[in-house]
Amino acid sequence: MKIIKTKDYQEMSKKAAFIVASQITIKNNSILGLATGGTPLGMYQELIKLYKEEMVDFKEVVTFNLDEYYGLSGDSEQSYRYYMEENFFKYINIKPENIHIPDGMAADVSLECKRYNRLLEREGAVDLQVLGIGRNAHIGFNEPDDEFKADTHFVKLDDDTIEANARFFDKPEDVPQKAISMGIKNIMQAKKIVLLANGLEKADAIKKTIEGKISPEVPASVLQLHPDVTFVLDELAASKLDN
Ligand code: F6R
Repeated sequence: MKIIKTKDYQEMSKKAAFIVASQITIKNNSILGLATGGTPLGMYQELIKLYKEEMVDFKEVVTFNLDEYYGLSGDSEQSYRYYMEENFFKYINIKPENIHIPDGMAADVSLECKRYNRLLEREGAVDLQVLGIGRNAHIGFNEPDDEFKADTHFVKLDDDTIEANARFFDKPEDVPQKAISMGIKNIMQAKKIVLLANGLEKADAIKKTIEGKISPEVPASVLQLHPDVTFVLDELAASKLDN
């Protein structure tokens, strides 16, 4: 496990963008696992800059997003597909057919989970998985539970997650309560993982994840078992760590 402590959000975002860009430089057809939310926005902006400066080329890159809200269509402004288009994909030269995001409007959600799992298996291992972390230490939408869910699955979101996500919605009743998420096995199968966290509200989750006991109650703690994981933290998110 490698821990990179940065001074602030901007430095965290730049470091993360460099990690992603070097992965693509080493392997132009890399498979990237991607996250949404507030944390990686700066990283996507930095990657767009690198693309405009011709430092990175997404022509052969394949992406798999971690999750999608259930019940939102891809053109809904709150969906993760829309987020990815608006914050990243529309600015780079990725091929639309190389973008994978679970379908939040699938009529049969269990079939959709199976389809996504099969796609992930067919493409082979994700080369680099980018993660954020919830205040409750969720990764993707693998919420605290009494067991780790291995594969892509349908999730009832935690109250804490619903509350945290409410900042992106006008009305509390609009915040989705359910989602489709890659499972822990999907995430752990990635060859490399980089987890980003910033702000004091993530400090407890980071401490438990890195220094605590491995448990499905702290989903991100499973990353202690991954052979190639890097945490890129700002000062506040790292502030409760012993070292
Ligand atoms: C999003 C995802 C989530 C977020 C987490 C943190 O695709 O998988 O695990 O990374 O909820 O969200 P932010 O970055 O908004 O604090």
